[in-house]
Amino acid sequence: MRTVIVDTDPGADDALALIMAVNSPDLQVEGITTVGGNATLSDTTDNALRLVEYLDGKQSAIPVAVGAGEPLRGSFTHAYHVHGSEGLGVRLPAPALRPHGMSAVELIRDRAAKSAGPLTVIALGPLTNVAAALESRPDLVDALAEIVVMGGAFDVPGNVTPHAEFNIHEDPWAASAVFASGVPVTLVGLDVTRRTSMHRRSGPRWFAGTSKSAQLGNRILADRFQERSDLQEFYLHDPLAVAAAIDPDILACRPARVSVVTNRDERGRTIARYGDGTVKVAVGVDVPRAVEMVRSLVSAGRA
Ligand code: BDR
Ligand code: CA
Repeated sequence: MRTVIVDTDPGADDALALIMAVNSPDLQVEGITTVGGNATLSDTTDNALRLVEYLDGKQSAIPVAVGAGEPLRGSFTHAYHVHGSEGLGVRLPAPALRPHGMSAVELIRDRAAKSAGPLTVIALGPLTNVAAALESRPDLVDALAEIVVMGGAFDVPGNVTPHAEFNIHEDPWAASAVFASGVPVTLVGLDVTRRTSMHRRSGPRWFAGTSKSAQLGNRILADRFQERSDLQEFYLHDPLAVAAAIDPDILACRPARVSVVTNRDERGRTIARYGDGTVKVAVGVDVPRAVEMVRSLVSAGRA
């Protein structure tokens, strides 16, 4: 059982990843921290609260803490065209749950200090909160077991520019600080996430059974495919990061030092110098195993 905080900007694929994390018997979710990115911070926080309440009920003990509304420099660009209205596409009931009194940075620090075992952060959005937490308390470097990051594009083109993947592009300064922090990082980039997808033709029951999470997963995918007639595959970017936190063996990784370009022309480009270093760059993935893990964890849960 791994104790985790999920830092996220839901986000359609973030939503599937959150469902997996909440349903997984191998993860203990100590908290969810929100960050702007796919949508405004207000939308991503509202979506996180709606998702937690839908999945875990009005009495849920999983705190949702509000993080950064802007990157370390400049502004987030958002991706409503990818994730739909309010950043999630589907509309869940208005939540009774409210954000936690602590900020995202405070919650990460608090849970790292109190956790019985070492804490892992699964980061599914721009790395602003994680960088701010490390900056504010340098001893967090020793308190964190690992940061599993969905981000980067190494030997494949980016998805927001020819060079950059979205999460890194949104806050390259934060990404650079996290990769240089010394905390072990597993970097799950487009090189592997683009190999894992749910196909339009496999629907409308991508997730089996009648659980609330299967129904929600099916609604999310149906909504994305309906709104975007050009879309044939829904990539499992963030779900693959959660899958890797549960079972690291689904990835093949190479140790590296990773730098991030922050200048305008190639903003967000990730460059790996392989050999040694604290970052493990995912270069291979066991696709059938990863997709099956996403399928079974989203299908699971309460009816
Ligand atoms: C990443 O960017 C976001 O749009 C997704 O939620 C995912 O975290 C993929 O590049
Ligand atoms: Ca995301």
